[in-house]
Amino acid sequence: MSKEKEKETMEAKWNQMPREEVSEVRGVVMLKSTCDTWNKIWDFQAKPDDLLISSYPKAGTTWLQEIVDMIRNNGDVEKTRRAPINVRNPFLERINLPYVGVTRANDMPSPRVLKTHLPVQLLPPSFWEENSKIIYVARNAKDNLVSFFHFQRMNKALPDPGTWEEYFETFLTGKGLWGSWFSHVKGWWEAKDVYPILYLFYEDIKKNPKHEIEKVMQFLGKNLDENILAKIVHYTSFNVMKKNPMANYTFVPEMNHNVSPFMRKGTVGDWKNYFTVAQNERFNEIYKAKMADTTLSFSMDY
Ligand code: A3P
Repeated sequence: MSKEKEKETMEAKWNQMPREEVSEVRGVVMLKSTCDTWNKIWDFQAKPDDLLISSYPKAGTTWLQEIVDMIRNNGDVEKTRRAPINVRNPFLERINLPYVGVTRANDMPSPRVLKTHLPVQLLPPSFWEENSKIIYVARNAKDNLVSFFHFQRMNKALPDPGTWEEYFETFLTGKGLWGSWFSHVKGWWEAKDVYPILYLFYEDIKKNPKHEIEKVMQFLGKNLDENILAKIVHYTSFNVMKKNPMANYTFVPEMNHNVSPFMRKGTVGDWKNYFTVAQNERFNEIYKAKMADTTLSFSMDY
């Protein structure tokens, strides 16, 4: 089949794919498949040597996953590219596909690196009981919103985001998938004072990747030399990851990268290309009120 024909067939298949429905667990909107199997997720047994990468969707999860895998493999690119990223790190609550979710995590040898987008109150309690290490990555709300909007457009495994205006409201009112961004980032911020959680910011990694990668390295108890660190900075940069077939999600048929690539822009401040002046004012007002009770602060710009 010619490349052009192959592309047309893929596009036609994607167009026909239904989108997944949503439901709720304790007031948090989640995929229906997650809600339907919630007991199995809640009862998941974590281990003390697990590492969990947690985030609100589109905050830089994949970036962190690749950084962690490179560190654990001492900068060995071939080892890090042994399998697609969603196979290397099971996504706990994504349970409707055979190769992900708690089912796959249960079958995996230790030490495991797992991924979740669960808000802190819905994390399976065994993670707290076992004192497993967790890395949380947060991204400023405005860029997070823009990235999530485009991701829902291109990913048939998620519901349609609606128009930009509709999605803007969904996000602000916390009615989107995985619940309110505000509660998510604040909840995990508080948990870091009690549990072994390294709390990182997308904007900091973007500004000084080496510095943040070193923090991750120390958190994992590793000590890598300067050459290896430089290699990790290079191989986890946006342009390299965008071309990496084991990290760029081109292996997932539900995602149509012609609609919007998974590795979309990878920048700070893209929200300025989307927010109207009125939307920005409304957003700032709500943001101020919802963030009044936290010491957490974000840079939305450089
Ligand atoms: P954009 O849509 O703004 O480009 P997640 O992995 O949590 O789904 O987050 C995806 C977002 O992180 C996307 O943001 C993606 O481009 C960005 N991203 C992924 N890898 C990155 C990297 N190496 N450097 C900067 N941004 C990256």
